[in-house]
Amino acid sequence: FPLKALNTFGVEANAAWFVDIEDENDLKLLFSDEQWKNCPRLVLGGGSNMLFTGNFKGLVVHIKIQGLKAEVQSDGIFVTAGAGVVWNDLVNYCVNNEFAGIENLSLIPGSVGASPIQNIGAYGVELQDIFHSCRAFEISTGNIKVFSKQDCGFSYRDSVFKSALKGLFIITEVTFKLSGIFKPNVRYGAIIEELHDRGIAKPSIKDVSQVISHIRVSKLPDPATIGNAGSFFKNPVIPVEKFRQLQSHFSDIVHFPAGEGFVKISAGWLIEHCGWKGKVVGNTGTWKNQALVLVNHGKATGNEIFSFSATIIESVSSRFGIRLEREVNVI
Ligand code: FAD
Ligand code: EPU
Repeated sequence: FPLKALNTFGVEANAAWFVDIEDENDLKLLFSDEQWKNCPRLVLGGGSNMLFTGNFKGLVVHIKIQGLKAEVQSDGIFVTAGAGVVWNDLVNYCVNNEFAGIENLSLIPGSVGASPIQNIGAYGVELQDIFHSCRAFEISTGNIKVFSKQDCGFSYRDSVFKSALKGLFIITEVTFKLSGIFKPNVRYGAIIEELHDRGIAKPSIKDVSQVISHIRVSKLPDPATIGNAGSFFKNPVIPVEKFRQLQSHFSDIVHFPAGEGFVKISAGWLIEHCGWKGKVVGNTGTWKNQALVLVNHGKATGNEIFSFSATIIESVSSRFGIRLEREVNVI
């Protein structure tokens, strides 16, 4: 089964078997069969955080579960969406209804069901800030378990679903806790500048969503025209002592606070300062406006992109003594 149209890198890969899942019952039926329960499997949403380096010799479980509803309660607005709902459709639904809290996560590609996996984040907001709970199907037992925010163990680009419970659960539905009171979160320099340019002093929820969408479009390549999976690496978090040493050699190193004793370094800055920004290497390279994004210039194989990412890791490591970790899931 061809996966080229189902991964935003747009690389060629095939799955031995493929199934579309429309509801929890489909999962129950599928995994009541021992053949599929014991077969290597890969859960796929929008394929926007994946790099296929070859064919997948197992079953791809494509999550298409729909549904979107909101419940207004005294302590918040609870919005529940099926795992297969397109993330940005959920954001637009909330923005149009003035359900606040999710607007900074505008235009992130992918599905609702994948959002807790790496605790998606952008422009000062992380999924964990608005996550209430999720329903997940346990493959080994066929039971549904409800995960609270605590259960999910969220941290920067990480959750329990990427570590202790990796591969064991399939998220079927997520409930978000939003607010009827909008407090703009516009501390990012780029947002402040764009609001200023537009002459907006008191932004509405729609303004924030539009401004962030505009910034994203100007920085990030659109997967519809140039294959990519967003940031290929995580921003490294290093101890403050190590940061001070680095800063004494590279005074303009871009960094952010990352909790007591730690500093988050811009991986894009590190890659750019190794000379890779906008470089084309064979069919791959980094994006001209954002060195953290690796791209497929049309005919790249997953292996070619993977090898290029290894070159970048070595290059950054030898210049700065920091080993970048991949954010993208390599299959
Ligand atoms: P997939 O790529 O299909 O899957 C990702 C992982 O989640 C895989 O391990 C998969 O097995 C697992 N998975 C998917 N669905 C389920 C499910 N229902 N149950 C269990 N496991 C599941 N990310 C950010 O955090 N912030 C950004 O600002 C951002 N910007 C991006 C910009 C671009 C242009 C692109 C292409 C990507 C960007 N990303 C960003 C990465 C990506 O959008 C997110 O990781 C997104 O959550 C992936 O969703 P998906 O449905 O495409 O997941
Ligand atoms: N920078 C450079 N050179 C570059 C890229 C960035 O010097 O080539 C420096 C600039 O100083 C820039 C700063 O780094 O101002 C921050 O860049 P940007 O705002 O683009 O954010 P980022 O740290 O590179 C992270 C997330 C993005 C998210 C943005 C916005 C990670 C790994 N990436 O990128 O998420 O959209 O912040 O909040 O944390 C993704 O995960 O796929 C993703 C796109």
